[in-house]
Amino acid sequence: MSGLKDILAAQIRANGPMPVADFMGLCLGHPEHGYYMKKVPFGREGDFTTAPEISQVFGELIGLHLAELWMRAGSPAVVQLVELGPGRGTLMADLLRATARVPGFHDALHITFVEMSPVLRAEQKSRVPNAAWADRLADVPEGAPLLLVANEFFDALPARQLVKTAHGWQERHVDWQGDRFVPMVPEDAPRLDMLVPAELRGAPQGSIFEILGGAEEATLINRRLRADGGAALIIDYGHDRHGLGDTLQAMHAHEYADPFETPGDADLTVHVDFAQVTARAGEALRVLGPVGQGRFLRALGLDIRTAMLAKANPPRAEHLVSASRRLADADQMGTLFKALSLSNPDWPAPAGFDT
Ligand SMILES: C[S@@+](CC[C@H](N)C(=O)[O-])C[C@H]1O[C@@H](n2cnc3c(N)ncnc32)[C@H](O)[C@@H]1O
Repeated sequence: MSGLKDILAAQIRANGPMPVADFMGLCLGHPEHGYYMKKVPFGREGDFTTAPEISQVFGELIGLHLAELWMRAGSPAVVQLVELGPGRGTLMADLLRATARVPGFHDALHITFVEMSPVLRAEQKSRVPNAAWADRLADVPEGAPLLLVANEFFDALPARQLVKTAHGWQERHVDWQGDRFVPMVPEDAPRLDMLVPAELRGAPQGSIFEILGGAEEATLINRRLRADGGAALIIDYGHDRHGLGDTLQAMHAHEYADPFETPGDADLTVHVDFAQVTARAGEALRVLGPVGQGRFLRALGLDIRTAMLAKANPPRAEHLVSASRRLADADQMGTLFKALSLSNPDWPAPAGFDT
């Protein structure tokens, strides 16, 4: 048994079944054995890959998007550029390289990575040495406009799963039975019907509704953007309206795995319900999207930039073109992945959303 399997089993034997969200949180973030705490999970050798790791163009276009917005906002002298869950730091490195010639932009930037994993912090430092690090968004200084980027962050936060049972909506837990973890609903689990959107409450028995994690971050994004100005760009895979279904999934060595089988050794994610992000973070802000990642990147000039890079570097041309298609084509990441922009209404509208 892995160390984490023993720890979780002992905890369940002692205290009874634990909510799926706690199980997911420990699998990913247990200080010693958590998935993100012990290794770099991305890339060919890892378990999955992400948009910034697929193509440099992803981070470059986001950089140009933010720099252009900053200029239209009057080039404020100081901005907090914050990335939530920056992985290897690739997106930020590409963003900075692409914007190096925008007059004054880099001088204005105070860069903070919000990252829980020491292993990934070291990776980020190797690519962006002049950043600061924070455990939580709440630790990032206030008082300057915020430019925030979160790519595949919300899908990695512990989500609660509510199941419609004969007694109403109750929280799904994880039990230890025999020699394995089994999802179940304790009979005496409280009724949580009020947490389910009214239009879904009458769903048939067995239906699952997921409550996305990241409530604190979403609330803070809202408060900071309203108080200090700026914009947040949230990119993730998921759906734009509330839906039902169990989307908890595990990835191991680029294959789907059983989320309860190898705690701490597989990546666990849920699909992001963008309606929940907007409900928590969108009040009194300009909300644009979500739109498909493909549409967003193409509106920012994906094809032109790819063609320019390919022309300048013929040996890599084929790779660059196929990587861009992977990011943007509808049958690849272009539709399932979506971009959402939240911004202070006194700021100009961010580009890429057909406004
Ligand atoms: C799926 S990865 C995405 C990485 C990166 N954005 C990319 O696109 O390659 C999730 C990232 O969020 C970080 N993370 C997950 N939960 C976190 C939390 N509660 N606080 C801070 N960082 C967290 C992980 O360590 C990792 O860097």
